[in-house]
Amino acid sequence: MPTNWDEQYEKKDTPWEKGAPSPGLVDFLAAEPVHGRVLVPGCGYGHDVRALAAMADEVVGLDIATLAMEGADRFPKAGHERYTVGNLFDLPAEMRGAFDVVFEHTCFCAIDPSLRPAYVESVAGALKPGGQYLAVFYLDPGNDSPDEGPPFEVSLAELDRLFLPRFDLVREWLPQRAYPGVQHPARRGLGRRREREGQGGHGYRRPSIAKSIGSTWTLECSILSRNLGRRPVERR
Ligand SMILES: C[S@@+](CC[C@H](N)C(=O)[O-])C[C@H]1O[C@@H](n2cnc3c(N)ncnc32)[C@H](O)[C@@H]1O
Repeated sequence: MPTNWDEQYEKKDTPWEKGAPSPGLVDFLAAEPVHGRVLVPGCGYGHDVRALAAMADEVVGLDIATLAMEGADRFPKAGHERYTVGNLFDLPAEMRGAFDVVFEHTCFCAIDPSLRPAYVESVAGALKPGGQYLAVFYLDPGNDSPDEGPPFEVSLAELDRLFLPRFDLVREWLPQRAYPGVQHPARRGLGRRREREGQGGHGYRRPSIAKSIGSTWTLECSILSRNLGRRPVERR
């Protein structure tokens, strides 16, 4: 059954709400400021929106839950941010092709996996050509079965399958921090190792096994750049 997100906020049944931006985003922004127009889909109370708004030109937080947007609006402004109630899968015309960056954190893992192809189309459609999609993915939220969720798990292979037809992978890395209290032993193999050497920044390393960040959930950060319809890159 689809989640009734407003009901979750009404009941205050919001285990994802940590009162702070994603540590992976905070660390990224400390190293690389983000500029331009930014969209944060499924932004909840908007902690990530405000972290981005402290430096970006304009940040739009989008959420399907009215109560989330009302809650986000109650926080002091950090910059040029605004919040809007809306469905990521039905973006208004003014949000199409309008953003330099889309930042993802706990929206992808919250939606039903059957909607993932539509999710990719939506975020690609929100970006300007060449715009960037910056994501913190939850690979292994520690569920007992792959069907359990939200949050739903995702494999690296599925991320490739979903995103590479529309995006070029710019960089990927394991975040060094997660929220305190978001802890679960990482326990599953995560597929084959892929490395691109010598490209600096946060490193381009995919984990060969789920060990690298100790006792937190298994996370991955990626930057993908919207491509112009090239065929998926063949990689070994
Ligand atoms: C797990 S919560 C994460 C919230 C926020 N990113 C955070 O980390 O605090 C998922 C959020 O996605 C929102 N959401 C779910 N489906 C959506 C959709 N189709 N369009 C926009 N927002 C959606 C929910 O209302 C909820 O606030």
